[in-house]
Amino acid sequence: MGQFRFLSAGESHGRGLTALVEGIPAGVPISEDYIQTDLARRQRGYGRGGRMEIERDRAEITSGVRHGLTMGSPISMLIWNRDWETGGDPDKVAWTDVMSTTPTTVEYNRITRLRPGHADTPGISKYQQNDARNILERSSARESAARVAAGALARGMLESFGIEIHSQVLGIGGVHARRVERPDWSQVEESRVRCADAEAEEQMVAAIDAASEAGDSLGGVIEVVATGVPVGLGTHIQWDRKLSTRLAAAVMSINAVKGVEFGAGFAQAEIRGSEVHDVILPVDEWPRGEDGEWVRPWPRRSNNSGGLEGGMTTGEPLVVRAMVKPIATIKNPLPSVNLETGELVQAHYERSDITFVPTCGVIGEAMVGIVLADAILEKFGGDHIDETVRNWRAFMKTVGPAHRVEG
Ligand SMILES: Cc1cc2nc3c(=O)[nH]c(=O)nc-3n(C[C@H](O)[C@H](O)[C@H](O)COP(=O)(O)O)c2cc1C
Repeated sequence: MGQFRFLSAGESHGRGLTALVEGIPAGVPISEDYIQTDLARRQRGYGRGGRMEIERDRAEITSGVRHGLTMGSPISMLIWNRDWETGGDPDKVAWTDVMSTTPTTVEYNRITRLRPGHADTPGISKYQQNDARNILERSSARESAARVAAGALARGMLESFGIEIHSQVLGIGGVHARRVERPDWSQVEESRVRCADAEAEEQMVAAIDAASEAGDSLGGVIEVVATGVPVGLGTHIQWDRKLSTRLAAAVMSINAVKGVEFGAGFAQAEIRGSEVHDVILPVDEWPRGEDGEWVRPWPRRSNNSGGLEGGMTTGEPLVVRAMVKPIATIKNPLPSVNLETGELVQAHYERSDITFVPTCGVIGEAMVGIVLADAILEKFGGDHIDETVRNWRAFMKTVGPAHRVEG
C-alpha cells in the first residue's frame, strides 16, 4: 500500500492540471502519445457539454521519463487548460483575470447562488469563502484528466503482467443495458455512450436528448473489468489493506459516484448462498494455454464475487460497478439560496454536461489501474520492471494444487 502514489493539482479554469506519480519502477515504456489515447477517451461521450469541444487534452511529461523509459523517479505531467487562454466566465470576463494567481483589478461576478448537489455549500462554509468559485473550481471533474493521465501510467506498467482494463456503461437515466459478459471492447469504444448493447444505446441517447430538452441532467451505472489479474493481490489481514476496501475507496472518490459494488453486487442479498458462491473447478477442468500450462490457477465456474474474496484477488476478472448520480448544475435550476443574504434564488448555472456516465467508465479504469499497480508493487516489489516481472513469474509457479508447490 502506498507503493504507487498519485497527487493532482489544478483548478477547472486555471492555467492547467498537474499530476505527480511516484512508485513506477524503472524500465517501463511510457510516451505522451500512449497517455493521449486515454485522455482522448475521457473527452468523448454523448451528453458532455461544450467544454469538451474546447479542450484537446495532452499530458506533457516533465520529469521521470528518459528516452521513452521510466527511471524509477517521480513522474510529473502537465495538462494545460485551453479554456484558460481563450475563454471567460459566464459574464465573459477572461479566465486569465477571473482565475489569476495574482490580485486583479478587473471586475468579475462572484458565484453566490449555491447549487444543491455540488460542493458549493459545505465548501464555502468549511473554507470560509464568499465566492463559490473557490470551491467549484477544484471540485469540478476537470481534475479527472490528471487521474486519467496517472491511470495511463499504471496501465503501461500493468501491461507487463498481461493485465487489461476496460469499462462499459450499463445504464443511463433509467435505461438499462443488457449486460454482456465478454463484450467486444472495440465496439464499446465506438458506441456514443460506451455501451455494448446497441438497442440500449439508442434509448440512452434519446433519454439524454430528452433531459437536455428539459434542461435537466442524468446519472447511471458503469462497470470496470480488469482481466489477467493474478490471484493474491491485497490481503485479508487488516481492514485498510483489503483490496476490496482500496478499490471501493478509489472508485468512490470519483466525483458524483455514490455507490460501488463488486461482481453480482447488491443482487447477492436476494439469492441463496448456493447460487452465489463461485464453485472452484477440479484441476482436470482447468483451462490450459497452447503450451499446456494452466491459464490461471484455481479457476471458478462463475464470478459472482467479481474476482475478490477476503479482500484478495481470486484470479478471475475483477468486476467493479459504480452508480453515478445526475449532474448538479442544471439548466433549469433548482430553487436555492444566496450565500450572503440567505434569500431564495435560482441555483447558479454555467456550461455543464447533461450526463458524463460514459466518461466515468474511463475515469473508473484509471482508478482501478492505480489501485492494481499499487497492489502489484506491494506484492512483487522491484525497482526495475524486469525484477517485478521476475518476482511475479516466480510466485505464479508456486500457486496451484499442493504437488506444484515443491517447484
Ligand atoms: C467526468 C465528470 C464530469 C462532470 N461534469 C459535471 C458538470 O458538468 N457539472 C456538474 O455540476 N457536475 C459535474 N460533475 C460532478 C461534480 O464534479 C460533482 O457532483 C461535485 O464535485 C460534487 O461532488 P459529489 O457529487 O461527489 O458529492 C462531473 C463529474 C465527472 C466525473
